[in-house]
Amino acid sequence: MSSTSTTAAFDTRVSAYLQRLERSMDAILPPASTDPQRLHEALRYACEGGKHLRALMVYAAGETLGVDAERLDAAACAVELIHAYSLVHDDLPGMDNDDLRRGRPTVHKAYDEATAILVGDALQTSAFEVLAISAALDDAQKVQMIRALALAAGSLGMVGGQAVDMASENLTLTLAQLESLHARKTGALILVTCQLAAIAANASETVRNTLEHYGRCIGLAFQIQDDVLDQIADTATLGKTAGKDLAQHKSTFPSLLGLEQAQQRAHALFDEARNAARSISGHADALLWLADHIQQRDH
Ligand code: IPE
Ligand code: IPE
Ligand code: MG
Ligand code: MG
Ligand code: MG
Repeated sequence: MSSTSTTAAFDTRVSAYLQRLERSMDAILPPASTDPQRLHEALRYACEGGKHLRALMVYAAGETLGVDAERLDAAACAVELIHAYSLVHDDLPGMDNDDLRRGRPTVHKAYDEATAILVGDALQTSAFEVLAISAALDDAQKVQMIRALALAAGSLGMVGGQAVDMASENLTLTLAQLESLHARKTGALILVTCQLAAIAANASETVRNTLEHYGRCIGLAFQIQDDVLDQIADTATLGKTAGKDLAQHKSTFPSLLGLEQAQQRAHALFDEARNAARSISGHADALLWLADHIQQRDH
């Protein structure tokens, strides 16, 4: 477990990191008044709210490896843009058909389906643009980051996981199949936060491997928790409709293992992540803080 003093130390930096993220987002997204206005307004709407855990992971991993924040800004912003796009498309009627996200109407409800599809498309291209135009990174790092993010977001990563998630409704998967689904649909974008920080740091292979282990553990634990919260939390707290997984016969950890075992598995993964963080550096307080913070979340 992280000590109280190190926890407090990262806590004071979180708001600064979130401000940096907001500045990067504001710079890359065209003003809402730009033609076509409805699209640009919806793009900004899709990026509001949210816990920004993936951006914080980029900053926390980078901080642990001694990287200056300005060399992490583009990666933090890029991963949040891909994440926001993934949620807009995940909520569409052809996918999870959700009306509520981050405590307010989903993009296709607040606007319309065509706009939501286009918002996702535009957010995705902005993610790669923000990496391409970064003044803080060298060209080799930008290319590596673009490739890592493309792999994580694409058919071998998040998009592939979403395809398997949809195809697995009404099925009973094996534990290995379910872990593979979660590793792709949610884990890949969480893992890539560590990979992007490692690229910014020009980290050694050993450090990268350990950081990736941290990222994999957090990624799987995060989606198990999402499945658990869907079952035990209420809609007001979640900011999205509770109980959807059962209603849509999704393959989830609680449906396969039961609630208690699913929670135990997440707990063990958070412990494993903390152990990995400690073995990267004696100064991994940011990664330890984040593991605690994610573990304690209620939405
Ligand atoms: C929700 O992710 C979708 C999943 C991948 C499970 P978050 O819980 O990080 O969503 P926001 O960004 O905070 O709304
Ligand atoms: C969504 O998983 C994962 C992605 C958006 C890639 P879920 O469908 O479980 O996410 P929520 O519960 O709607 O946030
Ligand atoms: Mg889904
Ligand atoms: Mg969903
Ligand atoms: Mg869910």
